[in-house]
Amino acid sequence: MNAKELTNKYIMNTYGRFDLTLVKGEGCFLYDENGKRYTDFASGIAVNNLGYDNHEINSAVTSQIKKLIHVSNYFYTEPQALLAEKLCVNSFADKVFFCNSGAESVEGAIKLSRIYAQKFSKRGYGIIAMQNSFHGRTFGALSATGQDKYHKGFEPMLDGFTHIKFNDFDALRKLIKGPGGKDYCAVIVEPVQGEGGVNIADKEYVKSLRDLTAENDVVLIFDEVQVGLGRTGKLFAYMNFDVEPDIMTLAKPLAGGLPIGAVLAKESIAKAFEPGNHASTFGGGPVITAAANAFFDEINKKGFLEEVLKTGDYIKSKLDELKIDFPEFIKEVRSIGLIGAIEFYEIKAKEVSVELINEGFLTTTVQDKILRLTPPLIIKKNDVDLLIESLVKVFNRNYNK
Ligand SMILES: Cc1ncc(COP(=O)(O)O)c(C=O)c1O
Repeated sequence: MNAKELTNKYIMNTYGRFDLTLVKGEGCFLYDENGKRYTDFASGIAVNNLGYDNHEINSAVTSQIKKLIHVSNYFYTEPQALLAEKLCVNSFADKVFFCNSGAESVEGAIKLSRIYAQKFSKRGYGIIAMQNSFHGRTFGALSATGQDKYHKGFEPMLDGFTHIKFNDFDALRKLIKGPGGKDYCAVIVEPVQGEGGVNIADKEYVKSLRDLTAENDVVLIFDEVQVGLGRTGKLFAYMNFDVEPDIMTLAKPLAGGLPIGAVLAKESIAKAFEPGNHASTFGGGPVITAAANAFFDEINKKGFLEEVLKTGDYIKSKLDELKIDFPEFIKEVRSIGLIGAIEFYEIKAKEVSVELINEGFLTTTVQDKILRLTPPLIIKKNDVDLLIESLVKVFNRNYNK
């Protein structure tokens, strides 16, 4: 049996997979079992920010594997310590907790907020989250997620999560300043909602949100699992809004494609954790953090993010042109840095994505009618041009009747 047949026979049916088996990657290109090349505008869902077969990541991993693969977190290891230093020195944070995925980083952020509330702010356990948000599939992260379709079949969700409209400051103020306001200890928000449809927070909203939470000792958590670490053209997405959160979650791209999660926090909040409060067997393991050090050094190199911003501006201009050329299909285009979305009126985004595979491009879809673009951050303008040409071909061939 081939990979497709074995998968369908032996793996639980939780993914709607494309009919494509990938075997190799190089730079911004992936290859299938027949050697056909695809330009990647998916990056394993915003993970492979440096593309594939990156020399620095590969050599960091291979040399660390030979030295030490795993020891428990009862001991110190250098790659983990160095990564923590880099993340803190280059962000608002003073302390890090390492885990293995985005959902786990959200769980860590929720636990830290609640223990901080019990020990210090003396507020309740309620967490305010946004409608249309996505925070992961474990029960805490799932309860924080503001989309019913992910909850269906798994109820009841955890107690203590309230969802309000994204970008609506009044809704937030009413809760925090309302009669039950002391019940809430934290607000969790994605500065750019990825799975929700690439919805970008308003700058004024984020500033007001920051002021209100600070005034009331409510912990502000930014979930940057999808849009942190260079995706928006800034090292961290919060840097687009001129504010700092109290806690930030990171994951997807941090270890160059290996599994990692991180909870970053200010010392004033992180001090609530004591030995025994939270832990992870594999969190911050030497191989993973060696890869993450290499990844972080690359995106933090002088000039790297400037290039991301330039390519991001280029994609934005191309998407704007596309909307002008196809006003009957395209309802809206949105982008910040190298995360972009094309929202259709009627067209099913999955159909377009499948057509693009035939044309040699990989994309992802969200919310039924939204095509999402998250190329590796090293994508070239020429690759963007070729994608747009193929999109035009797909539109003309299938929909321009
Ligand atoms: C903003 C955000 N938070 C959390 C997660 C969950 O991450 P993971 O799939 O690594 O658990 C995701 C995944 O898409 C995400 O986009």
